[in-house]
Amino acid sequence: MEMAINELKEALQKAERVTVLTGAGVSAESGIPTFRGADGLWKNYQATDLATPEAFARDPELVWEFYNWRRDLIGQKACNPAHTALARLEGLIPHFTLITQNVDGLHLLAGSRHILELHGNIWRVQCTQCHAVTMDRSPHMGNLPRCRSCGGLLRPGVVWFGESLDPDILNQAIAACRNCQVMMVIGTSSVVQPAASLAFTAKSGGARVAEINLERTPSSDRMDVVLLGKAGEMVPRLAAGWGNSRDQGAG
Ligand code: OAD
Repeated sequence: MEMAINELKEALQKAERVTVLTGAGVSAESGIPTFRGADGLWKNYQATDLATPEAFARDPELVWEFYNWRRDLIGQKACNPAHTALARLEGLIPHFTLITQNVDGLHLLAGSRHILELHGNIWRVQCTQCHAVTMDRSPHMGNLPRCRSCGGLLRPGVVWFGESLDPDILNQAIAACRNCQVMMVIGTSSVVQPAASLAFTAKSGGARVAEINLERTPSSDRMDVVLLGKAGEMVPRLAAGWGNSRDQGAG
């Protein structure tokens, strides 16, 4: 393990272009439930009842109840050492792109700036009629929240199962993977596409790909480095004590 950490750290220190993909595991240590696994959200709830356009058309109140519950929970959580260390790495590496599947906004709170939110953001709402998008950080949006300009029903500004990702964001993510020299995939089960295949876009572009997760995933066998452990412990170790010129001014 020690050797693998050092090897990855060295690759990061040499790299000009690094891309990171994060998933729910990165926010787990903040106290935000992941989706899969023993305590995962999709163990207790049916994704198809809550996170699809069909579910929203059928029962928008139920879907909003789920999202209000998550807004309330996420609003009380803070970023953890994994988020902070990723923000620090962004300050150390010339071209650093953070692609996240998380909708909790914690990377931004931690200080990351070049973020591509593949699955949207839970603090964003979108009108189903006039399509206006607004940010609203109130923990509870009401049972059936309405658009301030046209009165249409609002929906959460996240990507649901069966919906396409914003093509602009996806294209930027693909480009960041194609062009990077090192890619780290952290805290994702790597089962949801197209996010799961981004690591292999990076690999086929010649990048070294590394995975950090509590356990092996369907992608592990094709990774160059696999670090099994908590993101909140592993990422700070990668970002600590660079002691070279790049370190100056970063804090
Ligand atoms: P998952 O819940 O599928 O996977 C979380 C991963 O994080 C698992 O592989 C865990 O082993 C790992 N993990 C948990 N705690 C960790 C820790 N402290 N350190 C490191 N790893 C840890 O979450 P995602 O892969 O993000 O989509 O799920 C992908 C998408 O499926 C989500 O964005 C969401 C969901 O349905 C939508 O809502 C569209």
